[in-house]
Amino acid sequence: MILLVNGPNLNLLGEREPEIYGRTTLREIEDMVRQACAGWNVNVTAFQSNHEGQLVDFIQEHRRTARGIVINPGALTHTSLALHDCLKAVALPAIEVHLSNVHAREEFRRTSLIASACRGQIAGLGPRGYLLAAEWLCAETARPMALVKDASPRPRKRAARRVR
Ligand code: DQA
Repeated sequence: MILLVNGPNLNLLGEREPEIYGRTTLREIEDMVRQACAGWNVNVTAFQSNHEGQLVDFIQEHRRTARGIVINPGALTHTSLALHDCLKAVALPAIEVHLSNVHAREEFRRTSLIASACRGQIAGLGPRGYLLAAEWLCAETARPMALVKDASPRPRKRAARRVR
């Protein structure tokens, strides 16, 4: 299972500054990510909150069952040491996603307190950025072959040969 986490104001996707963030709703993004991960046999647990502490609680709560995190922290990207520390604490592979290219906008959006706690960052690719991040996580954390082997039938033991 991977976590799909969205921060403040991302619940308004579709109606919020569509010239910057597009017309796709958060529900549509979550459905797209779910579908892509289903192809990897991976479930997605999605969560959005406008409150920093709730995001921290959610990530902590799922730290033992999730295999990775796709996170768009919204404006908390630029301010939240608590989210940075949380991602470090749970030590799951995380990808930071932004719909817009934060590096080509206002100066204050160029700083991310989250980036150094993440494996990578995708910015400016719109909703498809979430998909790319999720697929990378699925591929990167794919179950090792050992499990597949366990599921296969055991080779039959050879009959012991009588020693004369
Ligand atoms: C955003 C970029 C942030 O700077 C902004 O505060 C957001 C959305 C993005 O997806 O482009 O809320 O994270």
